[in-house]
Amino acid sequence: MTAVLEARALKRDYQVKRGLFSEPAAVKALAGVSFSLESGKTLAIVGESGSGKSTLARLLTLIEVPTAGALLIDGEDVAHADAATRGRLRREIQMVFQNPYGSLNPRQKIGKALEEPLLVNTSLRAKEREAAARDMMRKVGLRPEFYDRYPHMFSGGQRQRIAIARALMLKPKILVLDEPVSALDVSIRAQVLNLLAALQEELQVAYVFISHDLSVVRHIADRVMVVYLGHAVETGSRDAIFSAPQHPYTRALLSATPVADPQAKKERIILSGELPSPFNPPRGCSFHPRCPLAFDRCRVEEPPLDVKQGREVACWAVAADSIDLAPC
Ligand SMILES: Nc1ncnc2c1ncn2[C@@H]1O[C@H](COP(=O)(O)OP(=O)(O)OP(=O)(O)O)[C@@H](O)[C@H]1O
Ligand code: SF4
Ligand SMILES: [Mg+2]
Repeated sequence: MTAVLEARALKRDYQVKRGLFSEPAAVKALAGVSFSLESGKTLAIVGESGSGKSTLARLLTLIEVPTAGALLIDGEDVAHADAATRGRLRREIQMVFQNPYGSLNPRQKIGKALEEPLLVNTSLRAKEREAAARDMMRKVGLRPEFYDRYPHMFSGGQRQRIAIARALMLKPKILVLDEPVSALDVSIRAQVLNLLAALQEELQVAYVFISHDLSVVRHIADRVMVVYLGHAVETGSRDAIFSAPQHPYTRALLSATPVADPQAKKERIILSGELPSPFNPPRGCSFHPRCPLAFDRCRVEEPPLDVKQGREVACWAVAADSIDLAPC
């Protein structure tokens, strides 16, 4: 099956001035991330705050251009596409944000907000746009009478349904969802995750699902990519990542994730220190200042992504097979 979305060593630096008289310095927000995603599948991107998740989301949705690397949407290399093709590719990939209120016009009724992408991008007539908006409202579980209501009249969960509906109006092939349920109560969170799963089944849309919390992606992801300081440190199938995480950072994240079975024995791995500054990332493995397994080589040489049986891990200790890989 061909990939609907492919990232090849995507990199993004930001030039930032740190003082009145200092030269601008580069924040290495994304250090070269690669993946491919098939139609109807979900790739979860997981990492703590500041690891580069939203930067990646902005590159994927063409809001920003990468400093280096390539992005292919539906097999087309975005950087080499002509203006018309870029316009089409932009419509194929849509974004859902953590706080949908910010992206909804408070003075615009929900029905009109849903019709807007069709008004701007298609030649559909008013009646056809209204029918499409009402159909999408039904798909995302919003009652027909909500068509004439304003954003402030909805709860957080309903507003996220509206945001998802709006993102789907142009029938994109890919949705990038940046922390889409992080601001919601736990019970509402499950409803929105179920809705996303049902929509994916029906529409075969691919998801890039971003979260700082591994437990949120457990039921929705097909594959999981763990990012640390702009690097992908481990990628694998959902089952492989949850049952036998290999990278010490993935193991630490997973050990901090609540489990459904209170009897299950779990050793909590506490990470020391904080995420280092992306202005001046550590030499060698960027995780070494916090890694309980770090040894001399880790401090000088960056580990490459080692690909084995559909699993990618960047760690010298895993490459040497010298750590205990029993499930956490
Ligand atoms: N426009 C910008 N200018 C300068 N630095 C930036 C810019 N955008 C992001 N950064 C920096 O890049 C790094 C990655 O930021 P990013 O927002 O992608 O992280 P994140 O994983 O989405 O974090 P969070 O979970 O808090 O949303 C951070 O150190 C951030 O301060
Ligand atoms: S390369 Fe070294 S420092 Fe990095 S995660 Fe592996 S053991 Fe830890
Ligand atoms: Mg973010």
